[in-house]
Order: sequence, then structure tokens, then C-alpha cells
Amino acid sequence: MSTTTNVRSSAGALTLPAKYYASPAVFQYEQKTVFPAHWSYVGHIREFESVGSFKTVTIGNDPIVVVRSAPEKLAAFYNVCRHRGTMVEERSCGVLNNGSISCPYHAWRYDMTGKLVAAPNMQNVDGFDAEDFGLIGVDVCEKFGFVFVRLNSDAGVARDYLDPLQEILRPWDVANQVRCGKLHYQVNANWKLLFLNYSECYHCPIIHPALSKLTPYKSASNELVSAPVLGGPMNLKEGVASLTESGDAVGPIYPALNVTQKHEVRFFTIFPTMFVSPHPDYFMIHRILPQSCSQTSVSCEFYAPKSTVDSDQFDIQSAMKFWDTTNRQDWKVSEMAQTGISSSGYRPGPYSNLESVLVQFDRYYMSCMCGFENE
Ligand code: FES
Ligand SMILES: [Fe+2]
Repeated sequence: MSTTTNVRSSAGALTLPAKYYASPAVFQYEQKTVFPAHWSYVGHIREFESVGSFKTVTIGNDPIVVVRSAPEKLAAFYNVCRHRGTMVEERSCGVLNNGSISCPYHAWRYDMTGKLVAAPNMQNVDGFDAEDFGLIGVDVCEKFGFVFVRLNSDAGVARDYLDPLQEILRPWDVANQVRCGKLHYQVNANWKLLFLNYSECYHCPIIHPALSKLTPYKSASNELVSAPVLGGPMNLKEGVASLTESGDAVGPIYPALNVTQKHEVRFFTIFPTMFVSPHPDYFMIHRILPQSCSQTSVSCEFYAPKSTVDSDQFDIQSAMKFWDTTNRQDWKVSEMAQTGISSSGYRPGPYSNLESVLVQFDRYYMSCMCGFENE
């Protein structure tokens, strides 16, 4: 599905009508239909290191629990009791007691495969068979060091769409790295405006003076041009080792990178919940969690090899400060876009040829919204 090209053309496309950014009905359809059809980011594989370790997340409207059910196996379920629907796990993460999930309401208990193994006072109920009341499972996978879940595998979206990125990210070996920093933001803008903003550097010379000193904004090229995964590299300027406050690396360059990769930063979006940004010396992700049509929660996480993190010279702060500044610049302009698009003065406008990825994003998004248009 992926192809590599540097031809960048917007083909005269216009930005989308305002309702896609400002309508609660659109947002509800996205949550009910579009998000469940795609892989959603859950966390790093190290968060599931020991058998019984778990994490809870909300995908669209649905609470989900993901658990390491065996040394080589992950399992994911709706976090919904089969008795009267209570959330069975209220903690955000941890290790399951005795390897089982016990509902806090009437103590129905499930094993790590989701099977109902105890249901007090149910043995004399006519027709009751515990076999029929296991937790309802959902798809789970690990790719390039991160765990993803998908609630609806029957919506026609290919199962393997993360694979091209897995191949590209192999030299970074993220599964064997540790998290060394995290930033968090609440942004008053629609989640798609954050994806669009992240997918072009047309705005970089104006919005990001510090970033523009480190990477030429016109050096961006497209590598994955077929949604749901889009993006590609930007070159670092001569003498710049990475995107940090000083332009110096935070630690050693990843040894498996080729000569070209050592002088680039790559930026990918994974529709609809994640940005992935491998740098020559550290690895950054953004988790995008929509709250409403005009509010999005974002976390920005930093990873590096444990040996790098443990060394005296390691300086992730230099990268975190750089990205905190850059993130805030992006959120501010996205919030201003949200305000403008939500006004009756908004009309769809023409994309530049530097925004060809945005055209691909919009096309893919609109293909996901066919059902909404027909409703
Ligand atoms: S709702 Fe879970 S045991 Fe009753
Ligand atoms: Fe930006």
C-alpha cells in the first residue's frame, strides 16, 4: 500500500467544510464508527512487561482493558462486566491481583483470557452458563514497540496498514527503549486540525523560528503517501545533529541508522490517534485523544535506549524544551484555526503544493465518513 514519491501537488484541493471540525454530530459519528475501525495507540510494550500487567484506555466511547495474558501474548477486552455492565477495572494501569479481573460490584471474576471463572450466587439461576458470559474481546497487536487495539475489524480497513511503518522504524528498535520524558496538553482544537498541522511545514518559518534554524522547511518529502499512515523525512541543516534547543544530540546516535537517516528527522501520522517522530538520537511520539469536536488531549512522550538514559551526558531536557516550545506554537495556531473555522466567515480555502499530505489525509478521512453522509 505504501509508495515513495517526492512529487508534491495539492491538485487544486480545498480544505473541508466547517462541520467536519465543529459539528458534535460529526464528532459522535467519528467516535462511534471511524475510531473503532482503526488501530488506536494504547502504550509502549514495556508497560506490559510482566504477565498480569494491564492498562485501561478509552477508544471512542468504549472503555477497554489490555493485559499481558501470557509471556508472548496480549489480550484486550471491553472493560464492561457481563453481569450488569459495570467497568471491571477502574485503575489506569497496574498488575492484576491473582491474575484475574474481579468486578467491584458483585465480584464476578474473569481470568486473563476473559473467561468468567466465578459468579457468586449464580449457580442456581435457570439457564445460566458461565461459558456464555466471558468479557468481550477486541483485536490487539504490537507494532514497532507500541501496543494498539482495534474494536471493529469488519469495517473494511486492512489489518496490516501499520506494517510499512514497522519496516521503516526497524533501525530505531523502540521496543527495547525506555520512556525518559512526557509532556501533556489540553488543546482547544479539533483532533484533525492537529493532524493537518503536523503534516506540513509551510507554516514553519512563520510559527517556528527555532525549528527553522535546524531544518529547512522545504526539505520535507513524502515517504508514505497512502493513508491511514502518512509522512516522511526532513533534512537537518549542516552541523545540526538533532532537534534540540542547542541542535546537539541528547546522546549517542542510534547505531543501526544509515548515513541518510543520521541527518534526518522523520514525521509520520497514524490515523487517528498517533504521531511518530524518530530522531537520530531519540524517539518521540504524540498521543492524540479527542475529547469533543473542539477539544483534544495530547501527550508527547520521549524514548531512548536505557544505556543512553543512564549515562551522565544524556540531556533529554534539551529535546523536551525544544518540543514543548514547538508544540505550544502548533497548538496556539490550531486553536486560532478552530475559532476561525467555527465562524460563519469560514469558506473552504485552497491547499498549497506544500500541503499535499493534507489532501491525502482529507481524502482518506472523507472515505471513512461515507456512512455519515448517507445517514
Ligand atoms: S456488575 Fe459486575 S458483578 Fe455485578
Ligand atoms: Fe508546526
